[in-house]
Amino acid sequence: MSESAKRASAAAALEYVQADSILGVGSGSTANIFIDLLAEKRLPLAGTVASSEATAERLRAHGYEVMDLNHTGGLDLYVDGADETDAHLRLIKGGGAALTREKIIAAASARFVCIADNSKLVELLGAFPLPIEVIPMARSHVARALVRLGGDPEYREGVVTDNGNVILDVHNLRILDPVAMERDINQIVGVVSVGLFAARGADVLLLGQDDGSCRTLTPQ
Ligand code: 5RP
Repeated sequence: MSESAKRASAAAALEYVQADSILGVGSGSTANIFIDLLAEKRLPLAGTVASSEATAERLRAHGYEVMDLNHTGGLDLYVDGADETDAHLRLIKGGGAALTREKIIAAASARFVCIADNSKLVELLGAFPLPIEVIPMARSHVARALVRLGGDPEYREGVVTDNGNVILDVHNLRILDPVAMERDINQIVGVVSVGLFAARGADVLLLGQDDGSCRTLTPQ
């Protein structure tokens, strides 16, 4: 992954932003570049909804108002990164532990534009360990259920999410049917959310290239 590829994808997302709208903004290094570019271009916004405390802090530092999703209603646009994407724009997210709020904003948005560098596009999801946010007391119970699903869960030591929960990263999953896998993991008691964005994937993928260009993909 290169910085120029991330920047190309973040810059391309600016074209989707309507002046004076309320914008959903994701988390991670590519989203951070996007936020900085928004500010650099002085794009005026009525407000923003942030997927993490870190993103909220960065937006406020640039002078953008951060609003409560309960007060904004549905959003027109959500811009966020990903850890992996397939050609159907089904994603793995949560490398930054912000998956639950990211999923909520994606669900509340008419359009989800995903910004990623070219290393994120894969044929089969699952080489990146699948993050799952879990209620702390259910950690071992959920881990055992994930082993039964064929995974190899690892507790992300020292990480507490913005919602006060813990993260299990699941290795060695062959995610042949992402929608079914998302549904099955969601049904484990104690799971808050799973970083598979399959039932609601991205609508547009802006895939930055190392030479600074950007490919635009829509779901196949
Ligand atoms: C955070 C995320 C990020 O979108 C994902 O980790 C990608 O991050 P980066 O842009 O730094 O590669 O899901 O929870």
